Amino acid sequence: MRLSLVFVLVMLFNTATSTQPTSLTFTDQLPDNDLLVLGVYQEGELGTLGQQLDAQGDISHAIQATAFEGKAKSSQLIPAPKGSDFKQILLIGLGEKEAKHSDLEWQNIGGQAIQDAVEAFKKAPVFAFDVSDAAVLANLAYGAKLGSYYFDKYYTDSERHKRQKNIVMFSEGADSTSTIYNSTWEPVANAIYLTRNISNEPANVIYPQSFVDTWTGHFKGMNKIKIKTYDEKDMVKKGMGAIYGVGKGSSRQPRMMVVEYMGGKKGDAPVVVVGKGITFDTGGISLKNPKNMWNMKFDMSGAAAAMGTLYALAGQNAEVNLVAIAALAENMPSATAQRPGDVVTSMSGKTIQIRSTDAEGRLVLADAIHYGDIKYDPALLIDLATLTGSVGRALGKDFSGMFTRHDDLVADFIDAGKNSGDEVWQLPLNDNHFKAIENDVADVMNSGPDAPGASAGAAFIGAFVREDTQWVHFDIAGVAWGSNAQPHNASPGASGYGVRLLNDYILNKYLK
Ligand code: BES
Ligand code: MN
Ligand code: ZN
Repeated sequence: MRLSLVFVLVMLFNTATSTQPTSLTFTDQLPDNDLLVLGVYQEGELGTLGQQLDAQGDISHAIQATAFEGKAKSSQLIPAPKGSDFKQILLIGLGEKEAKHSDLEWQNIGGQAIQDAVEAFKKAPVFAFDVSDAAVLANLAYGAKLGSYYFDKYYTDSERHKRQKNIVMFSEGADSTSTIYNSTWEPVANAIYLTRNISNEPANVIYPQSFVDTWTGHFKGMNKIKIKTYDEKDMVKKGMGAIYGVGKGSSRQPRMMVVEYMGGKKGDAPVVVVGKGITFDTGGISLKNPKNMWNMKFDMSGAAAAMGTLYALAGQNAEVNLVAIAALAENMPSATAQRPGDVVTSMSGKTIQIRSTDAEGRLVLADAIHYGDIKYDPALLIDLATLTGSVGRALGKDFSGMFTRHDDLVADFIDAGKNSGDEVWQLPLNDNHFKAIENDVADVMNSGPDAPGASAGAAFIGAFVREDTQWVHFDIAGVAWGSNAQPHNASPGASGYGVRLLNDYILNKYLK
């Protein structure tokens, strides 16, 4: 009895620590460590610390001997100068000195640096990017934290762990850097960690109710946040037949989680972000091919990013009213599952013929987005959804697909994408796409067999949004996960796509 209690506590402690975001501390005292990461400009130009360490010319010599060019995102391991406290130094290229890198470029330099350092040293070095501008340092720190992300909690072999517990950044203006960093980038980085974590978790761990519990835990203690969750009985009562129909095939019943953060002026219409939260998508009775089905644990990434966006903005105490809605269900084939040909009635009153039970994302969104639209009368209604394979075939891993009836919204989202790194590309949505989902049995059907997949999916969602509501749909099926490391994410798997985009867009649009 006592032993098993200890076991449970140890397990709890283990999970709790191994999924913690990497912490980042700034210091102006050079810490004791064998290993140093040192920033070097192109042509070998050194900063203040670099020049001190190079008193005997050892570093300059090593730079020449290794032909290290200092290009952005490059690195070179060298022995530390004789007589210094360090043993090894990893030089990190900062690019041209006069080059005004964008925020994103600095972030990517930081992210590549941590990954190269972990590769070279296997343990945590001291980071001295050796630049003096506090805003640049904050960007490097943010990038390093994002770039340290690795979903390694299930590795029992500690040799395989890559995520650093703590990154220590040395710089002269440590205090002002940490003030900038902690009030801006740190909450965003933490939000992205939480978003990636929950998206990476397998579907035996994350199902509708555990999604709700996990985020409820994260929001605990944060200011101005209200959470309301609808269960399957509430859905029946409210007439949410579309989300209910998707969820009813699973023993893990559907949920709709609604989180309000009213940090702005009282009475100002909020921005509402709705996310597709299919905790596992088998396709239902329209069963998917088993080959890549395991990947469908990521099918709740839109819902995770909606919550992550709210977490990021609330963490910055942003003066904005924001609502995040997660439309959660597990799409399973079973004796209680809905069938192709079934007709369901959505909360809006519109009836839907189910053509494919695998086009389930748009069904859960139909009710959640209608709820968000009429309940909040939003200033802007956004949805994020891993909706179609078709968007990934068109746009690959670099852009999400953006769809809207309000073209004047597009340019600012493209900008936010370029600034933040979560890039977007507009795809068409016109009357023909709405025609393609008309149905002879019900008001609409959930797939338009003769229409381009991503646009038909967008039109279906749009059919549940009032026409003059400012609404934008992002199909993130191509970008929500990947199989390669990137500067901002060392881990294969979930990218956390959407948090950086919406954080940037909302801050610029509503707070400046
Ligand atoms: N979750 C999938 C979309 C998806 C596919 C995401 C591949 C990532 C990779 C979605 O629910 C789905 O099954 N969409 C179908 C729609 C079709 C049945 C109209 C698709 O894209 O094939
Ligand atoms: Mn599906
Ligand atoms: Zn799906």
